[in-house]
Amino acid sequence: MTDNKLASRLYPTRIDIPADARSKIVAILNQTLAATSDLKSQTKQAHWNVKGTDFYQLHELFDEIAGELEEFIDLVAERITALGGYACGTVRMAAASSILPEYPTEIIAGMEHVTALADRFGPYAKHLREAIDKTNDLGDADTADLYTEVSRTIDKRLWFLDAHLQAAANNSGNGAPATAQNLDRTAARV
Ligand SMILES: [Fe+2]
Repeated sequence: MTDNKLASRLYPTRIDIPADARSKIVAILNQTLAATSDLKSQTKQAHWNVKGTDFYQLHELFDEIAGELEEFIDLVAERITALGGYACGTVRMAAASSILPEYPTEIIAGMEHVTALADRFGPYAKHLREAIDKTNDLGDADTADLYTEVSRTIDKRLWFLDAHLQAAANNSGNGAPATAQNLDRTAARV
């Protein structure tokens, strides 16, 4: 684990948000920084290792998503420092604190990688949505706005990933539409 004191450490600043609130906000942002860095590296892992008939379009899609996550890493880290906090931004810090599971190493085919990423974008999107409310409650509308911006893009990317899998779910078995029970199972997985 990254030292909790480090993740909520504050430097003197003239910003008008009380220190105790800033310390909590910075800790949340450091959690996001770790998860975003982890997710970006996992998306690159998919970009490099995907194989199969959909190789090229998935290789490109994963790279585009990784590029967005790279921008979010910088956005989040610089919000931390703008609040007087310390950005816990090394790869080792990210690995120690990320809320996401490690990426599977045995998968090869396109839809396996899409599923693995969707399984991680789901909890990441949930974390972002919770952070919107938490930072709003702590009196930081700017950080809540940052989270809203990132959350909207991540929801869109989760749709892009899920859209590959929804067709497969609908076409399974005898070709009948997916049941509500199956859809719930899919939702529970993410
Ligand atoms: Fe590349």
